[in-house]
Amino acid sequence: MAKTCPYSLDEIRDGTPESPHSSCDTPPSPGGLPFLGSLLEVKRDRLGFLEKLQAFGDVVVFRMGPKSIYFVNCPAGVRRVLRDNYRNYRKGVGLTQAKPLIGNGLLTSEGLVWQRQRRMARPSFEPASVGGYAAAITSAIEVMFGRWDLERERKSPINMFSEMSRLTLDILVRCLFGADFVYRAETVERAFGIATQHAIHRMTSLFEFTARLPTPRNLRFSRAVKDLEEVVQDLITNRRDATDKAPDLLTELLHARDESGAGMSDKQLRDEVMTILLAGHETTACTLTWVWYLLAKNPVASKKLKLECDVTLQSHPPTTSDLPKFNYANMVLRETMRLYPAVWLIPRKAINADVIEGFTIPQGADVLISPYTLHRHPSYWQQSQEFWPERFEAIINRGRDPDVYLPFGAGPRACVGKNMALLEAQLILIMVTQRYRLTLVSDRNLIPIPLLTLHPATDLMMRLDLATS
Ligand code: HEM
Repeated sequence: MAKTCPYSLDEIRDGTPESPHSSCDTPPSPGGLPFLGSLLEVKRDRLGFLEKLQAFGDVVVFRMGPKSIYFVNCPAGVRRVLRDNYRNYRKGVGLTQAKPLIGNGLLTSEGLVWQRQRRMARPSFEPASVGGYAAAITSAIEVMFGRWDLERERKSPINMFSEMSRLTLDILVRCLFGADFVYRAETVERAFGIATQHAIHRMTSLFEFTARLPTPRNLRFSRAVKDLEEVVQDLITNRRDATDKAPDLLTELLHARDESGAGMSDKQLRDEVMTILLAGHETTACTLTWVWYLLAKNPVASKKLKLECDVTLQSHPPTTSDLPKFNYANMVLRETMRLYPAVWLIPRKAINADVIEGFTIPQGADVLISPYTLHRHPSYWQQSQEFWPERFEAIINRGRDPDVYLPFGAGPRACVGKNMALLEAQLILIMVTQRYRLTLVSDRNLIPIPLLTLHPATDLMMRLDLATS
């Protein structure tokens, strides 16, 4: 069990001879190789490494080359970093590497710039505004069904991750820019693929200066960013010139005003659009891919879900007012995000020294919180590796510390797009279940690979049949 430090941060910072500085411990460490520390192990198996750290305690320090990294793996630590003392932590490794792509948007900005942007963007993501996108979401799902029916007639299996990526990008693009943008979605998809690969490479790179060298990888990344910028700038210009107020998210953001009545500059809008594309696309695609995998592996859960769809809808298409009736579908989504949280790592950097569960976190330290390890921690979850949606039934879930479940983060910097993500995921889950029976082509287990989001390591191929009532 973790020790609690009896001294305040001010007392520790004072550092007077009789101050208790030395009484706050350095966290335990797994050791590692000279100079490299745990770098090779992290490169080899990031999730396995973090799971291994769990055995050392709630707060653990490890080295990646010259850097010491603090891994915080308990709800009290999560509260300290993401809620109670969140101002002391700015965004850390990984997100910093994404800055050339998403600039100073909501995900990466800090302090007053972030506060202003968050206040301006928030109304566009409230349930009342997001509900307005349900029609755009169902249209995109129906387009996908057209494609799937052809594949079904040909008896060709589909690649579920590609399908979910295509669908969630289509949805995001329709919500952001309106339906007529769809034809340019391919440029966006390709460029984002390159950009996220690049960000991952930078995350595990030892030397920061290599990001500025004209290597083929860096050049490919710059070209991808330029392609995306052109598309987005075009759209912003068109919207600024438009006389009618289009019913899309870009127009909402364009008309958002701060307290002084000022709107966002083109640069700020560009950064927010890139941020929403990055933050809202792969996260939802990965989550849904894992849903289909888990349901196919758990036929009892799959049957219960189908029954809920039949009883609730009686073959009508779902509307937003039906969604609260889908108790089981919501538990399936929550359980999927527990086992496979798309955002598997929440990185921070300590601005000043802090104390977490009795351990000193030095000024400037890199701090990592992993929803993946917390969501599977046997101290907080019964049969933590099993898929069991019923654990989210109110009576079973009661009393669980909310800070052990973080699919959308926690505190003031939690996901602003949560309502949109849930609306989209619920509609997709329900509409697909109503129409199709999905079965796995192979019995092999699907392993997660932690890139910027938690991907399946291999293709998830599935057969499509029409569902029977
Ligand atoms: C299942 C889907 C999603 C998951 C699991 C997810 C998860 C998260 C998490 C964990 C964070 C906090 C990151 C941190 O604290 O460093 C976050 C932030 C954010 N997400 Fe999401 N997200 C999802 C979908 C979306 C969607 C659809 C959008 C936009 C349409 C979106 C936009 C954002 C933005 C802008 C932030 C930064 C918020 C801020 O710092 O103020 N996300 N998301």
